[in-house]
Amino acid sequence: MYCVMMYRRGDVRSWTLRCLVSMKRVVSFSTLRCISNIKQNLPSRTSLSLCSRAVFFSSSCLKSSSDLKAMDLSDMRKKYKGDDECFEENQLVSLDPIKQFGEWFEQAAKCPEIGEPNAMCIATATKDGRPSARMVLLKGFSNEGFRFFSNYESRKGKDLESNPHACLVFYWEPLNKQVRIEGTVERIPYQSSCEYFHSRPKSSQVGAVVSRQSTVIPDREYIRQRNAELEEKYKDSEVPMPDYWGGYIVKPVLIEFWQGQTNRLHDRIVFKRIKEGESELEEMQHRAKGDWVYYRLAP
Ligand SMILES: Cc1cc2nc3c(=O)[nH]c(=O)nc-3n(C[C@H](O)[C@H](O)[C@H](O)COP(=O)(O)O)c2cc1C
Repeated sequence: MYCVMMYRRGDVRSWTLRCLVSMKRVVSFSTLRCISNIKQNLPSRTSLSLCSRAVFFSSSCLKSSSDLKAMDLSDMRKKYKGDDECFEENQLVSLDPIKQFGEWFEQAAKCPEIGEPNAMCIATATKDGRPSARMVLLKGFSNEGFRFFSNYESRKGKDLESNPHACLVFYWEPLNKQVRIEGTVERIPYQSSCEYFHSRPKSSQVGAVVSRQSTVIPDREYIRQRNAELEEKYKDSEVPMPDYWGGYIVKPVLIEFWQGQTNRLHDRIVFKRIKEGESELEEMQHRAKGDWVYYRLAP
């Protein structure tokens, strides 16, 4: 009843949140579905994802695993841009894909709703093709490629040792933009890794020494203890960079710029590096800067 009154008063956003998020009691899945359906009658300025997320959040109160199995997210979608805001070839700021990436990255960095614009998912695979993916932070990019730092003995490190191919994905949700980068991966020179390592806060340097990333440990106390010991050990001296830690560079062979549209006619413009001797353009491909060509893909 309270919910309905709030709705009539027009404060739709706070109604949705207060009503759904403050539900501390266990509610049945069908009740949640029913609440979800109310959103269809809300004014269009109400964010669909806000409603869906509130429903999703509330559903974490669900007790029985059979309810969880019934979780239906088919209504969970957000409104992207209109067709008038599409991304056409003439809107590319450059036919150099690294410059185009720079433009989109700047937009993401300026967007207050994006907390970590440099967070990216990196997918690697074992030699026999078993994939794994995780988030890392992009620490620089140039014509050479895209740099990040990690533990060379981690799962991704071992993957890259035997299979030096990776795929990066950025998703800047408030801008409805996705960038996919595929390439080959190399370790950056030791000296460059060292410089970056020592530019980090001392606690992060100690953290990198403490953690043999991706190995099994007994409990949190173990790592807490190791951290305290090393904090003490390096209290008055420089933390040496461990040889199992350093930077990687992903040298791109393909960069895809994806712009989401409301009507699902998303824009996808792909830049592909052509190999030496491959000068002929394929059908519907266009010449870009340097050894790049570009084309459009169906969404
Ligand atoms: C936003 C975010 C940023 C992260 N940045 C890094 C990073 O720059 N380097 C890194 O090694 N791990 C980073 N991590 C942790 C990784 O996701 C992952 O847990 C870790 O690298 C071990 O992965 P692996 O076992 O697959 O090798 C980050 C996690 C998140 C959520």
